[in-house]
Amino acid sequence: MIVLGIDIGGSATKGALVDTETGQLVSERIRHKSDKSKKPKEIVKDIHKIVKELNYNGIIGAGFPGIVKNGVIGTSANLHKDWIGANLAKMIEDETGNKAFILNDADAAGLAEFRFGSEEAHKANVVLFLTLGTGIGSALFVEGKMLQNTELGHLLLGKYEVEEHASAAVKTREKLTWKQWAERFNEGLKMYEYLFSPDLFILGGGISSHFDEYSNYFTIKTKIIPAKLQNLAGIVGAAVAAQEKLQ
Ligand code: BGC
Repeated sequence: MIVLGIDIGGSATKGALVDTETGQLVSERIRHKSDKSKKPKEIVKDIHKIVKELNYNGIIGAGFPGIVKNGVIGTSANLHKDWIGANLAKMIEDETGNKAFILNDADAAGLAEFRFGSEEAHKANVVLFLTLGTGIGSALFVEGKMLQNTELGHLLLGKYEVEEHASAAVKTREKLTWKQWAERFNEGLKMYEYLFSPDLFILGGGISSHFDEYSNYFTIKTKIIPAKLQNLAGIVGAAVAAQEKLQ
């Protein structure tokens, strides 16, 4: 089935049509810029633009960078505070006339990676997927079942949350070398390892394509691998989740 997947992020809202059987994009990926000052209504308008640009009519899946329950946004660390309490599923339905399913962006990406990414994820009992962008997102799988809204990027390490210390955006902003960044992120990994004893870590987001440049600096005992789907995982997972929940 072909479904529109949307990934709402700290710097852009992206969307594309996804073949939910194969996990492949079957259209171009459209991108509309956003930042913390952009209000929910404007972002929903951007989603409507994507729908029109792709000439689409059908169910929509969207990943949002915060806690999501029953289509309603619970937290918004890197986007406008007006999102908190907003019923995004209803807003998209009212604006576009299409039914929508919303989930956390990292849960969407983790779902796609689990379904279409590395085989290794299926062999492990506990898998912790982490995705790095403006923030740090997490998706925790136990025997293939995902615990939603884990929000592990907000775990405090001393004074700072892991994402305030070691997200991809922080690396860029503070001009950190791979070594400097990896040593910081390693502190978070060590804590996740201690708390959850995962069998496998999967690292997603744009940064995962540079895995060989920094993976030597990690000192955890647990195996860590880069995600296969990289930046597209959020779009693909949102489309797959919508197909499963709304069809
Ligand atoms: C948000 C998470 C999100 C992550 C990655 C964090 O700031 O709280 O919900 O998954 O950023 O976008």
